[in-house]
Amino acid sequence: MSDAPEKRGKPTTVLIVVDPSGSAERLEAELGEAARVLRDGGTVAFPTETVYGLGGNALDRRAVARIFAAKGRPQDNPLIVHIADMGALGSIASSVSPGARALADRFWPGPLTLILPKSDAIPDEVTAGLDSVAVRMPSHPVAAALIRAAGVPVAAPSANISGRPSPTSAEHVWHDMAGRIDMLVDGGSADIGVESTVIDMTCSPPMILRPGGITLEEIREVIPETVVLTGGEGLDGPAKSPGLRHRHYSPEAQMWLVIGEWDAQVDEIKSRAAAGVRLGRRVGLLVSTETAAKLCTWIRDCGGEGPAGEIIVAEIGSRNDASQVASGLFDGMRRLDAAEVDMMLAESYDARGMGLAIMNRLMRAAGGRIIRVQGEAGNDLISEKSIE
Ligand code: TXA
Ligand code: MG
Repeated sequence: MSDAPEKRGKPTTVLIVVDPSGSAERLEAELGEAARVLRDGGTVAFPTETVYGLGGNALDRRAVARIFAAKGRPQDNPLIVHIADMGALGSIASSVSPGARALADRFWPGPLTLILPKSDAIPDEVTAGLDSVAVRMPSHPVAAALIRAAGVPVAAPSANISGRPSPTSAEHVWHDMAGRIDMLVDGGSADIGVESTVIDMTCSPPMILRPGGITLEEIREVIPETVVLTGGEGLDGPAKSPGLRHRHYSPEAQMWLVIGEWDAQVDEIKSRAAAGVRLGRRVGLLVSTETAAKLCTWIRDCGGEGPAGEIIVAEIGSRNDASQVASGLFDGMRRLDAAEVDMMLAESYDARGMGLAIMNRLMRAAGGRIIRVQGEAGNDLISEKSIE
């Protein structure tokens, strides 16, 4: 940043740092320049409570095109439109059903995205030609203040290069996007760590297309008949949500996901890691605190076994606290990539509550490299066909 890259003809990304605990008025003032960039059709990455988003004016086709270009995102994958108050919903959706209204009342602002019939004001580029639109009101104070200051609805996918793990810190965004976007607002880490729950409210019963920050159980408290998309349609044929067709959340190194009883998982991770080390590989382990503790002595012994091999551990939180694991998941994948591992082995989790979103992201990151060991949980929701 400091050596004025624009002088060498490269686009510059301006970095600004804000304190998310400041008052709403102060934040809006600090974000004045970022809001101007948005109004002028530029791209601004900013924190939300789930992951960092890459924003552009949702009413401006050129801004939307810049988002797609910066991410290398396939044109057929529509964007979520972010708003800061309920009043904005009327200009984005052509109708809001009582069920959608009830979910918005209960969970907004927060990590829930509603798929609603699209209004004519939203350009086709945002929705990839669909007649529905995804809308969400984020709760993160920086996101809320930025949208409010901009005075326009903000289209924002996750601020990663398409297909890579979503960014949960400004450093992650900088790594992927420096020089490709106009501005990055660093407002600290995105706490939830997995993206919003996407629920299709244009069908009956409502269908969760992507599990996320609001759990299935919480949504069923409002709409008990809610279903979750399962089935293989996301990988090839026509997908309910176009984003499901594409590779997602993938670290650079190939990841293997071990599913089954915890003890059996740990044994499997040990033997696969040992085999990798014997072959001279750098093996990354994406594991819980408890598993890391179990493996600690063994790794010290085994790590010296191979001529060039090595085991690198990314500890992502307690098995007993899914919100910790969700929060550390993408960061763990990125840390192992930064350590240039040749392969990753990931532990799996109970698919209830936030565990459903965690398992969805792990299954998609593994892209079919699933190792089933003894005592596999018989949960339909995490069959490898359940991809988003
Ligand atoms: O938490 C989040 O949702 C983050 C933050 C930045 O808000 N955003 C995010 O956006 O994850 P993105 O673009 O990475 O994921 C949006 C998902 C994609 O799977 C996309 O296909 C789906 O929402 N989607 C968007 N519009 C849709 C529509 N009209 N119908 C069905 N699915 C849609
Ligand atoms: Mg994304």
